[in-house]
Amino acid sequence: MKTRESGMPSEDLWRTFFDPDLILKRLGLKGDHQCVVDLGCGFGTFAAPAAALVDGFVYAFDIDVQMVEATQKAATTAGLKNLIVTRRDFVEQGSGLPDGSADFVMLFNILHAAEAGLLLQEAQRVLTRHGILAVIHWNHDPSTPRGPSMEIRLRPGECLRTVASAGFVTDRLLDLPPFHYGFAARKP
Ligand SMILES: C[S@@+](CC[C@H](N)C(=O)[O-])C[C@H]1O[C@@H](n2cnc3c(N)ncnc32)[C@H](O)[C@@H]1O
Repeated sequence: MKTRESGMPSEDLWRTFFDPDLILKRLGLKGDHQCVVDLGCGFGTFAAPAAALVDGFVYAFDIDVQMVEATQKAATTAGLKNLIVTRRDFVEQGSGLPDGSADFVMLFNILHAAEAGLLLQEAQRVLTRHGILAVIHWNHDPSTPRGPSMEIRLRPGECLRTVASAGFVTDRLLDLPPFHYGFAARKP
């Protein structure tokens, strides 16, 4: 089941909201990471640059066939052989990756989902000890050009507490201008 308010605008517009390389580096993605997971990859906005950066593999999942195709196209265009894109419902099926197999998991623009707890559990399960969970979300500001309704949009403090209560050790909050905040969290 598609999570609430997880639809996308045009790819051209979405791309203008981020500097993916900078965000990934600030959240701790490193060249020697071997297994990176993107739950709800959308257009591959972050999965493709992550695959270009790491030595290992990036596993990107989305329920929406158009998003899967867009991410696959981004991989092909950039000649990325290490980006594995799968159509999958992570609410119903998780990622299917083995326990303790991932160094870095991305939950980007998705934690307003009613199933946020399930997503965090799946991140806990697949991460290695000391693996990084990276989170970004829309600022709690009604003037952002996109983003979930204010009633379900997590304030930064609330987001940090939600991730901490799922068993992660959260790092400091980062401002990711123009429209986002984010943080890294570690599996203890
Ligand atoms: C708001 S978009 C964010 C995309 C990407 N993380 C980014 O920040 O560029 C959320 C994505 O999650 C996907 N999604 C929603 N529910 C899902 C589910 N149950 N299983 C897999 N993907 C899902 C949507 O199709 C959409 O592409």
